[in-house]
Amino acid sequence: MSRTRRAIAVGALALLPIAPAVVTAVVAASPAHASQPLRAHAEARGKFIGTAVATTQLANESSYRTIAATEFDQITAENAMKWESTEPSPNQFTFSGADAVVAFAEQNGQQVHGHTLVWHSQTPNWVENLDAAGMRSAMNSHIAKVVGRYADNPVVRSWDVVNEAFNEDGTMRDSFWYRKLGGGYIADAFRAARAADPDAKLCINDYNVEGVNSKSTAMYNLVKTLRGQGVPIDCVGFQGHLSLQYGFPGQVRENVQRFADLGVDVRFTEIDIRMKTPRDSAKDAQQATYYRNVMDACLAVSRCVGVTIWGFTDKYSWVPDTFPGEGAALPYDENYGRKPAYTAIHDALAAGGPDPSDTTPPTAPGRPSVSAVTSSGATLTWTAATDNVGVTGYDVYSGTTRLGSATGTSLTLTGLTPNTAYTVHVVARDAAGNTSPASGTVDFTTLAGQSTGCTPSYRLVNSWPGGFQGEITLRCASAVTSWKTTLIYPSGVGVTQAWSSRMSGSGPAYTFTNADWNGTIPAGGSTTFGYIGSWNGTGTPPAPALS
Ligand code: G3I
Repeated sequence: MSRTRRAIAVGALALLPIAPAVVTAVVAASPAHASQPLRAHAEARGKFIGTAVATTQLANESSYRTIAATEFDQITAENAMKWESTEPSPNQFTFSGADAVVAFAEQNGQQVHGHTLVWHSQTPNWVENLDAAGMRSAMNSHIAKVVGRYADNPVVRSWDVVNEAFNEDGTMRDSFWYRKLGGGYIADAFRAARAADPDAKLCINDYNVEGVNSKSTAMYNLVKTLRGQGVPIDCVGFQGHLSLQYGFPGQVRENVQRFADLGVDVRFTEIDIRMKTPRDSAKDAQQATYYRNVMDACLAVSRCVGVTIWGFTDKYSWVPDTFPGEGAALPYDENYGRKPAYTAIHDALAAGGPDPSDTTPPTAPGRPSVSAVTSSGATLTWTAATDNVGVTGYDVYSGTTRLGSATGTSLTLTGLTPNTAYTVHVVARDAAGNTSPASGTVDFTTLAGQSTGCTPSYRLVNSWPGGFQGEITLRCASAVTSWKTTLIYPSGVGVTQAWSSRMSGSGPAYTFTNADWNGTIPAGGSTTFGYIGSWNGTGTPPAPALS
């Protein structure tokens, strides 16, 4: 059933009972000015600013309630919507905590992000102990019941459908979900959530995926694959549990942008930035810079819909319990005093962003020169564009396809197709989103891969519950003395053994090179190798992408 939620403005502050002074201030605020709460500035920028909330503090502490209501226009239940809270025993649902959070949001003109449906943690043991059929059915019924409860509620806009599905190296986490149901549990969970609420934004959420790294790339590949298969995934959540001692992650803005380019929303879902305690002014300043960096990364990409902080006061945070000797991770101190981190968030939202009146685009960058061409990449270098305010980045295109982005005047392209001609150009952009005219173009052709002249084709030989046998035939137009081909599988599929070839890789990409005896193929000839795959889904095992 459709509902009216989309017509309701995020800042429906006429409903705000706790701090009536804010009602006037926010409604009058266009554009927001510096003395206003975070939410006023966020709304003026078309983003949300949120916090996780704990039901005990919401119920018992007025200072906590007031800040949660006045500063934030989005809330996430820190624990109250998790499986152990909502369905502690089979088919016994308790929504008192979840309902309290939703009621608070309704009173205060806030949106709610549901956290979380399918996770390996804070899920009762009875779920883990089910057999595969029972677990699949429990997952579907849990999603239907929990998402369905709020499907017609206009403030509950989005859900973390699957949480923390990856290992740090990008392989799938060996959770009880994965072990029992195979990687297909992710697509199944999203389909169940869409069936329960056709309008909610459905997200996959994880930690250590803020910058470009193996884990975020695996997540990127999964989202791309799932969307290609029509799985209803709308959004990606970067948790953002950062620590001063590990430094700020690399390429956060670029990472947000690459997900945005897949057509999904991006949100920072659980930001906190811990330090070794006690605090001092240098650590506070560094923490403020990190908060500012997060805000700026979100503000720079239109599909980044907002930032949620994982609590707001150091009085209540999961950090010291989990990381002894660390803490002070939030923008308010233990006495609800604002820290430099608060000012950084405020200033990013209020003043640090692009000037909307700037409509002057940068000049065109110089025509790029090309070097270090390989079978899959090339390095481009160009002279800088200029801008009345400042150039913030460059995008490299082949026609209308964006091949990559850089903040400086050079970019090494990767993932190109061997033996292929490219004509590329560069476009500069500024913080206000103005883009320059295109640079001149440069042509180059990638080198042939080792399987020059050979085209791979795939055949499913047979399949059985849990696995299948695949076969690749390489047909070669010209003679080769060695060959190499790569298969890329969606998550949930693994290749466990191969013959008539040498295999390397642990997924999603598997590379096969010739065995000692079958590297030589004459012009017009072919060779075939086979392999065994693992897969727990139903129907026909997915075919690999071939290159
Ligand atoms: O409510 C009980 C209380 O009755 C009992 O006395 C006390 C004794 O330990 O425990 C209380 O429960 C704790 C609960 O938080 C509520 O405070 C649990 O022990 C504790 O494990 C639980 O921790 C939560 C943690 O997830 C569990 O994994 C944190 O509050 C919560 O902030 C944290 O949030 C996660 C996100 O959901 C997912 N991403 C990572 C993030 C941080 O770990």
